[in-house]
Amino acid sequence: MKNILVTGGLGYIGSHTVIELIAHGYNPVIIDDLSNTSLDVLKKLEEISAQSIKFYQADVNSETELTRIFSESDIHAVIHFAAFKAVGESVNEPLKYYRNNIGGLISLLQVMKSFEVKNIVFSSSCTVYGEPDHSPVDELAQIKKANSPYGNTKQIGEEILSDCQFLNTVALRYFNPIGAHASAKIGELPLGVPNNLVPFITQTAAGIREKITVFGNDYNTKDGTCVRDYIHVVDLANAHVKALDYIRQHPDNHFEVFNIGTGNGLTVLEIIQAFERVNQLKLNYTIGGRRAGDVEKVWADNQKADTVLGWKANIGLDEMVRSAWAWQQQLQ
Ligand code: WQD
Repeated sequence: MKNILVTGGLGYIGSHTVIELIAHGYNPVIIDDLSNTSLDVLKKLEEISAQSIKFYQADVNSETELTRIFSESDIHAVIHFAAFKAVGESVNEPLKYYRNNIGGLISLLQVMKSFEVKNIVFSSSCTVYGEPDHSPVDELAQIKKANSPYGNTKQIGEEILSDCQFLNTVALRYFNPIGAHASAKIGELPLGVPNNLVPFITQTAAGIREKITVFGNDYNTKDGTCVRDYIHVVDLANAHVKALDYIRQHPDNHFEVFNIGTGNGLTVLEIIQAFERVNQLKLNYTIGGRRAGDVEKVWADNQKADTVLGWKANIGLDEMVRSAWAWQQQLQ
């Protein structure tokens, strides 16, 4: 059984990936410092998968803790999610982001090297493209100066991995993950005021937030609001399984990147309207000013993931917004 170390495995994307790993015959070993999640997620993962899952409460910045974990578990590959990911917060606290996102990656790679573990799937982001010259954006698109320290930590992370010749890396550039597991037992945990659009929508629908502010409707798009490539988190989770399969089939590979998006661009207002239509409710929203750092439009050319990884998104917009609301409702 292939043991897969999942750092940040109790987080939003990590938890959904753990379920798909188990469903595809892998054995996840989770480490998480619980700084942005709760231990209850582990209980829910064991309920969904109907099995116990090995968990370590640990900080990826601690080589001592990582060494103990690697010495106790015969790790075949690592999926590295553990990082801070709030774009706005990274602008206010850059050092916190560089220390954790870059420092944590370096600590992890040092220990992988000492245990001769070379396989890693890296959680990267479409933010590495900044404002692309055009969309859909493919993996050969120019990597522009990051719009935020968060985006820069993803660019630097990819460069570090590419420079480490001992590794076999697949970097997945996520677009906009939304939605929740069909069981509604796991989803995006709302710790504090949400930065992202869909948690803000679901909390407004639940009456936790008074209204949604749409950040600008004067962009050069069909309805003036920004365009993003929204992908169901379970489709995204399955891309990680395909990445592990790819690494196993290409043991002498060194570094590959893949865009993980649906290939469709949707505006903010289209998401709001879909949420209202599918969940048969009205949302309270107003049009406000633009948010600093937002790109106008970005969506994926996902051909490479389709032809090389054999992965494509299967879950449509209606299930994305239905599952997001079902998750929020069971949180009450
Ligand atoms: C989406 C759109 C906002 C909130 C995210 C992640 C980032 C990366 C890429 C993985 C934008 C608008 C939002 C609100 C709004 N993913 N919006 N009102 O900025 O694309 O970045 O995906 O690495 O980590 O943060 O996502 O959901 O914040 O914004 O109008 O209250 O919704 O302006 O156009 P973003 P988002």
